[in-house]
Amino acid sequence: SHRIMLGPLVAAIDQGTSSTRFLVFNAKTAELLSHHQVEIKQSFPKEGWVEEDPKEILQSVFECMERTCEKLTQLNIDISNIKAIGVTNQRETTLVWDKETGEPLYNAIVWLDLRTQSTVERLINKTPGRNKNHLKHKTGLPISTYFSAVKLRWLMDNVDEVHEAVVSHRAMFGTVDSWLIWCLTGGKSGGVHCTDVTNASRTMLFNIHTLEWDPELCKYFGIPMEILPRVRSSSEIYGLMKSGALSGIPISGCLGDQSAALVGQMCFQDGQAKNTYGTGCFLLRNTGAKPVMSDHGLLTTVAYKLGRDKPACYALEGSVAIAGAVVRWLQDNLGIIGSSEELEKLAASVGTSYGCYFVPAFSGLYAPYWEPSARGIICGLTQFTNKSHVAFAALEAVCFQTREILDAMNQDSGIPLTQLQVDGGMTSNRLLMQLQADILCIPVVKPSMPETTALGAAMAAGAAEGVSVWSLSPEDLSEVTSEKFEPQINPEESEFRYARWKKAVQKSMNWET
Ligand code: G3P
Repeated sequence: SHRIMLGPLVAAIDQGTSSTRFLVFNAKTAELLSHHQVEIKQSFPKEGWVEEDPKEILQSVFECMERTCEKLTQLNIDISNIKAIGVTNQRETTLVWDKETGEPLYNAIVWLDLRTQSTVERLINKTPGRNKNHLKHKTGLPISTYFSAVKLRWLMDNVDEVHEAVVSHRAMFGTVDSWLIWCLTGGKSGGVHCTDVTNASRTMLFNIHTLEWDPELCKYFGIPMEILPRVRSSSEIYGLMKSGALSGIPISGCLGDQSAALVGQMCFQDGQAKNTYGTGCFLLRNTGAKPVMSDHGLLTTVAYKLGRDKPACYALEGSVAIAGAVVRWLQDNLGIIGSSEELEKLAASVGTSYGCYFVPAFSGLYAPYWEPSARGIICGLTQFTNKSHVAFAALEAVCFQTREILDAMNQDSGIPLTQLQVDGGMTSNRLLMQLQADILCIPVVKPSMPETTALGAAMAAGAAEGVSVWSLSPEDLSEVTSEKFEPQINPEESEFRYARWKKAVQKSMNWET
């Protein structure tokens, strides 16, 4: 049949906490041509524990690739036009596998997991002045359950198979990017064991100034350096796909999902920022070639390094653990909605929480508090409160948490953001977007192509040396269309609700005492 001529295409694997996607873009226009998405199961074997199956994650990638290729073929698009594949992923999630058998040695411990809470408290207590920022000068991060090093330590201490593989030099550690790239480039028969600077910067073992694994940090956590992947830039050829319909295509982009969204939103200038609403919610502001340390509870992280010889760019990050996850909780744990679309309808039916506040501190509180012992609360309930008000309060919680990290960001940089660029699954909820503008008192701007995370990874892959089918200049993509939500309530009303929210947050941190 008749084949459509499109020029070069670039694909991206977007492996998030809740789902996996494979997407194919036109490298000339950034148009999304086809994609497929598969949900990922999460298991909660004990209170506070969150795991995923590494094989299911890999399988979901293959499934998404196959289905997307089928869809392209149906559209008469020749898949041989795909010139490169980028990988972007949920960050920090920790895996260990056996390089000889190729088998994972335990489930992936998801970033949200709290099993290391007591280890973290012990580590902080041992620092001079019980200072959670003891390692921040090197890592940009507070000591927290969030990052990979403590999860990896837990695996070595508690899983016999991991311990044995480490002592017999068969263990490989990786975040999801490393696991996928290793498997896709051949696995036990010659797979490439690597990660990129952005993912490495979330492990707590990486020096964000020298851009290398740090022997002192590895010693501090008792991690043997030989199990770590090689750290590469975010845009270079790591290896070639070894099987399936896309066999032979280079994998040439790799970024943690929040970094990829920053790239996909074209935030290449110092001062530009984006907020992504996924399972969690992450506001990143580009700070250029210099890492800026926060005084207000934000993280300093590597934003991207788009080529071996290119300089690294840094970002300040406000991380919120629970955003979309609260929607899934209302659905799976409380059963008050049947789907995420129902949440918007339910909340819109009342248009107010009627004084109900919901702090979803399911995994403790992240930025700006970094309080692992915080727990979720719903307060301000009366006989009048019903599930619609709770639904509304859940949406407001996402907006208030964003307000807190935006305030911290403005204080750290001294230059307030005048509007917020947003993306991610939850941005399809129009009520949420309006609420967000109301609570921030600045406009919220959403691109009409919502898959900015995947776009960023595809751009990095397409621009890599030896591929070069995509130029990273924003001028080429200037006709990006977007939608703007303007604040509609008066600022006093907004401040009043925000002050109440902050009281609720204090309660979530002190409810046991
Ligand atoms: O740090 C965790 C983050 O990378 C997860 O992103 O989109 O799965 O919520 P997401």
